[in-house]
Amino acid sequence: MGYNLLLIEVKKTGLNIVLVCIILFLLLLQHYREPVESKEEIQPPLEGKQEKRGLFVNTSQCQIISMDPLSPIAMYHMTHMPIYWCYMIRLMVPKSKGGRNYLYLAANRRKLWEKIEVRRISEISCAYKRFVRKNDFDNKYLESNVFRFSRWRNFTEVKSGNITLRVWCWLDYGRLVYHDVLMFLPMPETPKSKPAKLETVKGLSVLILGIDSISHMHYQRYFTRVMDFLDRLPHTELWGYNRVGENSYPNLMPLLSGQSVDELEALSGCFGANQMANYDRCHLLWHEFKAAGYATIFGEDSRVGGTFTYAKPGFKRRPTDFYLRSVMNEIHKNTKYVARGPDEITCSGDRVYHHVLYDFIYRLLPHMQARCFDSGFFALFWQTMGVHDYFQYGEQTDLQYYLILRALERRKILERTLVLLLSDHGLRFGPFVKTFQGMRETSLPTMVAIYPRWLEHRFPLAVANLRTNAKRLVTTYDIHETLKDVVNLENIGDERIRNRTLRLRNNHNVSLFLPIPEERSCFSARIPLHFCECDGFIKIPWNIRSIHRIAQFAVASINKLLLPYKQCQQLELLKVEDAYLRKQQEVILETITVRLVTEPGNGHFDATVLSKNDSSLQGAITRTDRYREQSFCAREEPIEIYCYCP
Ligand SMILES: *[C@@H]1O[C@H](CO)[C@@H](O)[C@H](O)[C@H]1NC(C)=O
Ligand SMILES: *[C@@H]1O[C@H](CO)[C@@H](O)[C@H](O)[C@H]1NC(C)=O
Ligand SMILES: *[C@@H]1O[C@H](CO)[C@@H](O)[C@H](O)[C@H]1NC(C)=O
Ligand SMILES: *[C@@H]1O[C@H](CO)[C@@H](O)[C@H](O)[C@H]1NC(C)=O
Ligand SMILES: *[C@@H]1O[C@H](CO)[C@@H](O)[C@H](O)[C@H]1NC(C)=O
Ligand SMILES: *[C@@H]1O[C@H](CO)[C@@H](O)[C@H](O)[C@H]1NC(C)=O
Repeated sequence: MGYNLLLIEVKKTGLNIVLVCIILFLLLLQHYREPVESKEEIQPPLEGKQEKRGLFVNTSQCQIISMDPLSPIAMYHMTHMPIYWCYMIRLMVPKSKGGRNYLYLAANRRKLWEKIEVRRISEISCAYKRFVRKNDFDNKYLESNVFRFSRWRNFTEVKSGNITLRVWCWLDYGRLVYHDVLMFLPMPETPKSKPAKLETVKGLSVLILGIDSISHMHYQRYFTRVMDFLDRLPHTELWGYNRVGENSYPNLMPLLSGQSVDELEALSGCFGANQMANYDRCHLLWHEFKAAGYATIFGEDSRVGGTFTYAKPGFKRRPTDFYLRSVMNEIHKNTKYVARGPDEITCSGDRVYHHVLYDFIYRLLPHMQARCFDSGFFALFWQTMGVHDYFQYGEQTDLQYYLILRALERRKILERTLVLLLSDHGLRFGPFVKTFQGMRETSLPTMVAIYPRWLEHRFPLAVANLRTNAKRLVTTYDIHETLKDVVNLENIGDERIRNRTLRLRNNHNVSLFLPIPEERSCFSARIPLHFCECDGFIKIPWNIRSIHRIAQFAVASINKLLLPYKQCQQLELLKVEDAYLRKQQEVILETITVRLVTEPGNGHFDATVLSKNDSSLQGAITRTDRYREQSFCAREEPIEIYCYCP
């Protein structure tokens, strides 16, 4: 149409023809330039040898060789995140006022017309259903109600108190235009108590901001807003924080329980002794804080990948005072849909999942503020969505956590709280992980401790130790002990620290307020050698027979795991891509890591064995490429990452 008009115009004068032709030509050129360029794939830069530039950790038993967060290979992967959006309209918001709860209309007339072509709000009918948690997988439904907004009434009142609702709206002929799960966390109506003087503070609250799959280097390269913000505050960044297990579960369980997954699942362990029916018998950190009078909070943004619920039974009783699980369940079962754009991003209403988590955090801020000046709170938040799957997601995640930290500062929560910004491991899947640096980064997650200024005045020795430990090999076992010290701050007075230091042995679990033993090794820290970053990596020829044997053994080990799952195909070795000799201080612990590819499915795996014994796996065999569709027949099975469904 536009072109036709243009042509008519063109007939009028000859000169214009030339002009228009030139313009058209330029437009076409513009149009074709981009695809042509993107067809020529830019080759990733070759990785240089690791320079002995410096060491993140330099102790007698552990030298972690430094990496450059902005190395050429990392920069190559720092592309833009594909654009995504949740297309549903945001029709209403939950608000609490004066002890009562209301659903407020949030869309104006323009939005209504643009998004759903509605001119009058009264054309829309809505309903809500109240639900409460039944267990970690199901909800119980209570009353429901139908309502409408109108020009004169932009709200509707719902039941008061802490409530959760699923709300949906439709047009006359039944078209669903809104579907989301909303929560109310009203503040108890108490007169505002004056903040206690600093000297009289007894307790320190704890806030864990957990973000899945953020390696320390990833934090360094993407979290610039957060880092700038923290520059003004006392904080300690740990350079020798090493993962102890493959994914979130084996890294978070030691943090919360102080025990390894094997210990928990043993017949004498809290989970094993309970026939693995649920985690109720496990004594987790929040129980300790609860007993000390703290309010407890736990929220994760993922339903499928939940820490206690991915291929696990979860809790029978609600584990913490505030618990997001029932909301995520309700979303998962009723309101979730895949975002427009990349396929690993899931929405509810107009929000992606991690914004549901942020909403939970922001709604809890007044509670946290009140509690941290009173009897304290313990909170664990965990984000998985986005960061788990996309390298580039770090950029916007930085912004979100910067905003959260700023809100915490404004509400003076930082003055009474130990904040741990931490992760469980680095990115585990995708092209970057197949690079040498990507492989190393996976085992060195982020861990930053942010504390109030008064802490170092009152506990100079403990905080000095924490600072020294920034350059020691540490794990989640140590974080567990650290947080146990926070429950009772008397533990970290100078006298006590001196006393405890004298009695200190080379255990795997040492509070970060004590000096981590200089002689700690991966072995004494209980880090499986496959994840150990203490040794140098020497590239060795991958095509020699002994390496091939190791690779064969690794594939056979996977096949053994797959045997009970008849739906999964047995794998075969396609090729070995790389092999590394990892020199340990103790020669008996020298290991070899092979990076191999299997078929069918082109699965990429890493396996580590002792160099003395090529059938002694040191930790799990890890996968480094995406497997999602391949393993549809083994969703949420423990062998999901290995399974190829025919
Ligand atoms: C590591 O520590 C040793 C002994 O203290 C020292 O000689 C060496 O120079 C240090 N290495 C680096 C790279 O700092
Ligand atoms: C609801 O309507 C009232 C009066 O019409 C207005 O003052 C108020 O700002 C509206 N609230 C919201 C959340 O739109
Ligand atoms: C909301 O839940 C918290 C934590 O369980 C509780 O302390 C508070 O009293 C509840 N508020 C209301 C209004 O029920
Ligand atoms: C330090 O330890 C000694 C011996 O174990 C004990 O007698 C003393 O009370 C301890 N001091 C403190 C402050 O805990
Ligand atoms: C460390 O772990 C051991 C064994 O799991 C346990 O007995 C001990 O209480 C833990 N804590 C400390 C501070 O050693
Ligand atoms: C090699 O390691 C495996 C598994 O740990 C063990 O069963 C086997 O006995 C070891 N072989 C030798 C020769 O040490």
